[in-house]
Amino acid sequence: KKLAAILSSFMMVTMLAACGSEAGTEEKANGSATGSGGDEKKTIRVVTDAAYAPFEYLEGDKIVGFDVNFLNAAAKEAGYDVKLEHVGWDPLFVELKSKRAAAGISAITIDEERKQTYDFSSPYFLSINKILVPEGSDIKSADDLKGKVVAVQSGTTGQAAVEKLLGKNHKDIKKFENNNLAIMELINKGADAVVADNAVVEEYAKNNPKQKLKVVEDSDTFDAEFYGIMFPKGSELKADFDKAIAEILDNGTYEKIYKERFGTSPDIEKLKQ
Ligand code: ARG
Repeated sequence: KKLAAILSSFMMVTMLAACGSEAGTEEKANGSATGSGGDEKKTIRVVTDAAYAPFEYLEGDKIVGFDVNFLNAAAKEAGYDVKLEHVGWDPLFVELKSKRAAAGISAITIDEERKQTYDFSSPYFLSINKILVPEGSDIKSADDLKGKVVAVQSGTTGQAAVEKLLGKNHKDIKKFENNNLAIMELINKGADAVVADNAVVEEYAKNNPKQKLKVVEDSDTFDAEFYGIMFPKGSELKADFDKAIAEILDNGTYEKIYKERFGTSPDIEKLKQ
């Protein structure tokens, strides 16, 4: 009897805690009891597809990568706690559309089509699609992809770029749920090339020398892209995060995180344009 009473009052408390908060966010006391009661920090639920090293990937069951470090720094600056969850690429968009998540970070390119449905933070990373091929491949440019089998992650700008060259729904475009599966297809010789974000294919080729892969770039064909944190349309978080991003770009925090991961300095001016 007593246990049941304790359990039910515990459930009441957790249910109450779940109520009255904004989409994907929950109020939480900030730890330091000031007595004023005004020092509340919100926890926001952020979703990702943690199969895109070096931006987000799993180390054991921990999500790590550049995006994770960047997100934590921006959220800290903006005054939020973050609960980051690996849900996968397509589900990420569903979670945001339904406002079950407050934000998504996943090397997501800011593009016009996505902007119809979602809001984006200001840009935090400059990227471009590149082509991953076996060392001996005769693919030297994007145009050489015509007549080849190309693996991509479904629903990415990589897929769109290849469709622009080969045609929409072309039989030689193999689409995968995550980018690691696309790379596996290349290694298993089910595809002649993978098209994905430069840092991702470059890191893969470098970290897996035994696979004997190389990266082909074609900046005449592929467009420069900017990553942003994605929010449900109309989210109040955008303004807070834009302010926080501007601050960490200016105060050296962003540069430190970037250098730790990539070993070079970022072109911060390009991000600010
Ligand atoms: N930047 C590309 C896009 O937005 C690819 C991103 C894929 N991200 C990932 N975590 N799998 O379409």
